[in-house]
Amino acid sequence: MRFDILTLFPEMFDCLVGTSILKRAIERGHVSLATYNIRDWTHDRHHTADDTPYGGGSGMVLKPEPIFEAVDSIKEDGAWPAPVVLLTPQGRLFTQEIARELAGPDRLILICGRYEGVDERVHRYLATDEISIGDYVLSGGELPAMVVVEAVTRLLPGVLGSAASPLDDSHVSGLLEYPQYTRPAVYRDYPVPEILLSGNHAQIARWRREQSLRRTLERRPDLLAKASLTPEEVRFVLKNSARELVK
Ligand code: ADE
Repeated sequence: MRFDILTLFPEMFDCLVGTSILKRAIERGHVSLATYNIRDWTHDRHHTADDTPYGGGSGMVLKPEPIFEAVDSIKEDGAWPAPVVLLTPQGRLFTQEIARELAGPDRLILICGRYEGVDERVHRYLATDEISIGDYVLSGGELPAMVVVEAVTRLLPGVLGSAASPLDDSHVSGLLEYPQYTRPAVYRDYPVPEILLSGNHAQIARWRREQSLRRTLERRPDLLAKASLTPEEVRFVLKNSARELVK
């Protein structure tokens, strides 16, 4: 999978490609990542990438020309069509499901917005998708682009190896993950739940599933509407949410 990232701050991606999962995925050839400085496609002496908004108002707007031209030049290398994803607080909210969707094509172009906005023609005529990582505003799309790259990379075949599987992760099943413990069995008088020491794998699996359900019910009940639950689990949720209501 190849990521092409358009940004005014390519150096921000150095730490991403130099550490952990992404570093290994690049070394093993699962992923390649190229950054492009939007300023390289400006045509004035000062390499101006932004301008004041038509109609007035505060703040600056990223100009369309350098972004369109940068994407044109990426297209020239032949691997086309690829989704062109604009990171913006106005995009659809990023989820595990969207990460899975974006892991489908073998190439993604990510455009990092900056300042107060990006010229609307980039939204309308260049981007094929717009993604927000949450209902809050950052100074630019660089951190959101890193979030997308990381979430997508973990899903690519071979990246996590066979030992660590993404299948149990929170959100993969539509529920939050169950609590995890490791040695020691008692730490500062805080014990690990007995069942996990029992060696009874069927009971442990049942306990974990119930913990996932309880935790999701308590912390993110909104997720339950989309999760795939057995009839028994639906009854469990209904019983326990009724209990919450009368508390
Ligand atoms: N740019 C600024 N804030 C953002 C957000 N929350 N998601 C995506 N891009 C952004």
